[in-house]
Amino acid sequence: MKYEEFLELLKYRRTIRRYKPDSFPDEYIMKILDAAHYAMSGGNSQPWEFIVVKDPETKGKLFNAWLDSFDLSYYFEQQRIARYRHPAFNVPPEEKDKARAMIGGWKDAPVYIIVLEDCRKMAGSVLAARADTTGGSINIFASTMGHLGMTLHLAAASLGLDSQRVDVNIQEPFRQILKYPEPLRLNIIVPIGYRAYEAGPPRRLPLKDLVHFEQYNINKFLRNEDFLGYLDKIRALGRPGYRAAIDEEKG
Ligand SMILES: Cc1cc2nc3c(=O)[nH]c(=O)nc-3n(C[C@H](O)[C@H](O)[C@H](O)COP(=O)(O)O)c2cc1C
Repeated sequence: MKYEEFLELLKYRRTIRRYKPDSFPDEYIMKILDAAHYAMSGGNSQPWEFIVVKDPETKGKLFNAWLDSFDLSYYFEQQRIARYRHPAFNVPPEEKDKARAMIGGWKDAPVYIIVLEDCRKMAGSVLAARADTTGGSINIFASTMGHLGMTLHLAAASLGLDSQRVDVNIQEPFRQILKYPEPLRLNIIVPIGYRAYEAGPPRRLPLKDLVHFEQYNINKFLRNEDFLGYLDKIRALGRPGYRAAIDEEKG
């Protein structure tokens, strides 16, 4: 594969937040998982397992469990000033049901891939994780799972499919639905399907601001007093709801 093709694939993969209900060939699921399980992992620990969910009833239960778990997020999000809040939580408590409608676009995806993590397998990691003075093994475990996620999303994109990572706040309702034993944990839910809208090109900070040659260029350092400006900048690159919150406040 050429660099240009790889870049095209990277740009095609977007976080897709609404799906058509259209199904796709079953064989794609195993292809995606086959590719994903080549992700790199600390000590080659490969601490992941997968549950493929297609049954509408199970999908519905998972989706509702996820929605219910967001009550806590709503209240936590109120700690921030309005312009930096997740757009779905930028409503008063009496309207918080609206948030449920805004965050739940992945409901209709025809397949959910559940990525499980086995934290015992952290012990498979080496070097940095062993000199564990700063939570190293937890960081290595979390980044290992991140590598798995990105590989899975790219594999889906290579088949013309779309995906999103859905994080969970709590385990118990998902454990009850899917019956995975302790100490396995649900790492992410990945809805897979076809995008229901055009996502446009991905938006990123200018590369030149992020790259230093030979030594750190202190002129590019983000000063504390510029931090809120940075938040505005990334919110402006983000979802339309974030941009609306900023525009509204600016009046
Ligand atoms: C660890 C992680 C957590 C994320 N959490 C959320 C989230 O809670 N809600 C959401 O809408 N998007 C979430 N995203 C998606 C990001 O907003 C998205 O990746 C980013 O805006 C870049 O857009 P793109 O993925 O379409 O390129 C998350 C992504 C990552 C990697």
